[in-house]
Amino acid sequence: MRVLLTGGAGYIGSHTALVLLEQGHQVVVLDDLSNSSRESVRRVEELTGQEIVFVQADLTDPHATRAGLDDIAFDAVIHFAGLKAVGESVEQPTRYYRVNLDSTLVLLDLMRERDVTRLVFSSSATVYGDPQTPLIAETHPVGVGLTNPYGWSKAMNEQIIRDAAAAWPALAAVNLRYFNPVGAHHSGRIGEDPSGIPNNLMPYVAQVAVGRRERLAVFGDDYPTVDGTGVRDYIHVMDLAEGHVAALTHAEPGVQAFNLGSGVGTSVLEAVRGFEEASGRAVPYAIHPRRAGDLATVVADPALAFERLGWRTTRSFTEACRDAWAWQSANPRGYAG
Ligand code: NAD
Ligand code: WQD
Repeated sequence: MRVLLTGGAGYIGSHTALVLLEQGHQVVVLDDLSNSSRESVRRVEELTGQEIVFVQADLTDPHATRAGLDDIAFDAVIHFAGLKAVGESVEQPTRYYRVNLDSTLVLLDLMRERDVTRLVFSSSATVYGDPQTPLIAETHPVGVGLTNPYGWSKAMNEQIIRDAAAAWPALAAVNLRYFNPVGAHHSGRIGEDPSGIPNNLMPYVAQVAVGRRERLAVFGDDYPTVDGTGVRDYIHVMDLAEGHVAALTHAEPGVQAFNLGSGVGTSVLEAVRGFEEASGRAVPYAIHPRRAGDLATVVADPALAFERLGWRTTRSFTEACRDAWAWQSANPRGYAG
């Protein structure tokens, strides 16, 4: 397949591009580089020895998007492009809704015009809100009591895609609900490169380990969990990337939704210890109050993806820490060097 990756220069997109190329597909990346660099795409080309067609354009701009893709054919789309910082979405709700919704609307119109029917969308476990069961299955209610515009924008996107499929029965869409993506390609050549202070746990831990930041703030140690700190389902980004290829292959007319997670919970303190062991570096931390909007435990029931897509995680959290360290230690300032 020739696959268009919107936001394909970003963290998850670049790893997915690599897996697609390795499995014999062709890749077109459309990205405005607002949260990434051209260098990630160049490194995927270097790792695979194959070329990527790169288009720099803002997907929320229908004219720029059409002009950029004018003479470029593709027969499937993975839609990663969007803004993803939860706290920022509370500060800038209209910007988040505009980018995260307009991008999908422009894309769906373009797909219909071109008669491209296969779509995989980057959704998030955040659409489930506060879990009602220890393991979250796809049957869990979606879009109930969400606490931030980012989460709402993901739930709204899923609805938009369902409505689009109702009006256009040929559309074969898959909403992938990611749990917590971590790690990097084992080469250490591509990885997560957050701009500014990382919002997420693992990139922050990695920057403490490499000496870029002094200590980690652990947000709360009084949750009803194994050691009082938040528990999450961390998934190796290469497992996640492979999940996209499985979803593309199994897409069928209509809309499906799958969790991409491991089913294993890890606490913040367990994650810190895991990273210390993998890196051989100390990760000093201090306990701070809970972060607003945080949940105690968020872990996937990953059974459906295995049943329908034949996909499940094969890499451990330890492996994710080792690969994240390979990336962070070789690129202490990310793609900037
Ligand atoms: P990322 O920021 O690294 O990648 C997103 C890419 O989209 C960036 O390269 C950015 O430049 C591009 N982009 C943003 N706005 C654009 C626009 N208007 N036009 C074109 N390109 C644009 O983030 P990521 O971690 O790779 O996440 C990819 C997708 O997965 C996002 O939709 C995110 O919400 C979703 N997701 C991420 C996580 C996570 O923890 N990383 C979890 C669940 C879901
Ligand atoms: C994990 C755990 C924190 C940072 C967010 C989004 C979610 C998804 C992934 C996109 C929690 C604790 C964190 C720190 C800490 N993104 N923590 N100190 O909150 O599960 O999910 O990113 O869709 O939508 O909400 O991930 O990595 O921020 O936090 O103690 O400096 O680490 O409290 O328990 P989260 P995270």
